[in-house]
Amino acid sequence: MYNYYASDIIEEVRVSNDIVDVVSEYVRLEKRGKNYFGLCPFHKENTPSFSVEAGKQIFYCFGCGKGGNVFQFIMNVENLEYIEAVRLLADRARIQLPEGENDQEKEKALLKQEIIKINTEAARFFYNNLNSKQFENARLYLKERKVSDHTIRRFGMGYSPEEWDMLYKHLTVKGFKDENILKSGLVISGKNGSCYDRFRGRIMFPIFDIRGNVIGFGGRVTDSSVPKYMNSPETIAYNKSKSLYALNFAKNAGQKRMLIVEGYMDVISLHQCGIINTVASLGTALTESQGRILKKYAEEIVIAYDSDAAGQAAAIRGLDLLNDIGCNVKVLIIPQGKDPDEFIKKNGTEEFNRLVDKSLSLVEYKIKVLKKQIDTESTEGKIKFLNKVSEVLVRIDNSIEREMYIKKLADEYKISEEALQSEIYKKSKPKANLKTVTASIPSEKTSRKNISGKHDNKLVYYERILIALMCIDNSIYKDIKNKITAELFSEPENWQIAKEVSERLQSNKSMVPAELLDILDKEAASVFTKIFQEECNYEDNYKAVLDIIKRIELYKLEKRKQEIFDLLNRKEKIEGDVEKLNQELSSLIIAIRKMKES
Ligand code: UTP
Ligand code: MN
Repeated sequence: MYNYYASDIIEEVRVSNDIVDVVSEYVRLEKRGKNYFGLCPFHKENTPSFSVEAGKQIFYCFGCGKGGNVFQFIMNVENLEYIEAVRLLADRARIQLPEGENDQEKEKALLKQEIIKINTEAARFFYNNLNSKQFENARLYLKERKVSDHTIRRFGMGYSPEEWDMLYKHLTVKGFKDENILKSGLVISGKNGSCYDRFRGRIMFPIFDIRGNVIGFGGRVTDSSVPKYMNSPETIAYNKSKSLYALNFAKNAGQKRMLIVEGYMDVISLHQCGIINTVASLGTALTESQGRILKKYAEEIVIAYDSDAAGQAAAIRGLDLLNDIGCNVKVLIIPQGKDPDEFIKKNGTEEFNRLVDKSLSLVEYKIKVLKKQIDTESTEGKIKFLNKVSEVLVRIDNSIEREMYIKKLADEYKISEEALQSEIYKKSKPKANLKTVTASIPSEKTSRKNISGKHDNKLVYYERILIALMCIDNSIYKDIKNKITAELFSEPENWQIAKEVSERLQSNKSMVPAELLDILDKEAASVFTKIFQEECNYEDNYKAVLDIIKRIELYKLEKRKQEIFDLLNRKEKIEGDVEKLNQELSSLIIAIRKMKES
């Protein structure tokens, strides 16, 4: 993980960003005992199980098992790579990171800048076309769709002429290199080596990043030809799964609520009507990254997709996704199969706002969809419906909210609340179990080698506690260093980690819990954080370490003993010396007894 910056500068960044301060920028924390608690930003919950420990500079969620130091927190919450998280926190602490350490990174950054320049120039070119007499039809099209001049300017809309290479020529004249022009995705190289424009004869919509850089384009035909829209391909500047159209404007709306719609024109119409807390996912399925970004800017997210079947299916997927990452989601239903753009043009802003206020919660929406799908007139249908409904209700973890729905549904379908309750209860059992199992044993599960059954879960766990303790209390090391050998560790990964910790301590450097998490991958970091939080609360760390080492050794002796028993008890003739095995067995038994007595 240290391929970009030296470990000491990373450590400087880490200690300069107190985890309580950093987390507080995202989560409302309350102090309880020595820990801070709050609602987990990584999963949906109503009672806080997300904790931050100032002393160890780590966070851990008892609900979802995510944990780590301040870097891992930023990686998770901002959806960043490790090195990006380091950079963000360095910025925050005003630490200057050494530059030019990695030529490849530098080159990438330069290329990205160049592509944004090309895009910006292209946007200017498209925009100017709209004002020229030659392309007044394009202007007319927008007028017909009631897009105002102000909106055209604000969104930087434009027109790509119905020619082969007008943009390409324009960009060449402006001095951009072919190589980079092609990498922008705006120009395509043909079979005979000539270059031609990707967008021809289309209304152009620049796509901005959050800072307002032009990172890509969408283009719409002005008639009924297909494809209706074309979009820039992914480039070094344009990552579709992390972009949301108009977020650069919507983030300034200063509202608790954010609307998410499907298309360019929906966003543009709503913004024109003053509903600027609107972004678009641009026809692609909503991604987790987009969800997390939205969550950062809004407490409540309203999905306002087209009311056609595709739009509704997309809405359900988006809903579940947003709900799973802890967003408070609602669904806006547009009557008469319209999209937001058509609706607001026909019925006005006030009517649209009424729809927003009437939008359904996740549960209400799912029940509504079920009602539509299932004929509840027949007894059979009623049973099926209630069965499906209880599957929805079981996912509500707020019991008051659940009660409310039970009451409502029982009333509506003339069944007893108890019957519905017990249906939900039946469904809740296996799920709850599954959850507690996976939540409580990530340590045993996460080691990849364990899954193949090669290593012993218990040993692996002890080994990790041992490593954790060495980091919590560095002074232990001098007394146990002789025991920290490859032989002690059953799992190679643990030994690698232990070795790195030892080397650090051996050269009189320190290694604290949060720092340890930096040399681990994300998954291992969560496991170790859990151990830091839940395991390592001993009165006397030194005693605890000795105890753990003893347990590891004892465990190994017992295992060998069992192996010998098995060998001796086998029916077939064993290779080697039975006598020798018996001798080993008796010395093992003595050693085990001694160890247990000590
Ligand atoms: P829609 O067909 O709903 O488009 O597709 P729209 O925004 O309402 O457009 P108008 O009102 O007809 O002008 C929703 C989104 O899906 C993507 C676009 O991002 C579009 O805005 N899309 C659609 C494509 O990428 N390609 C297509 O061919 C169609
Ligand atoms: Mn539309």
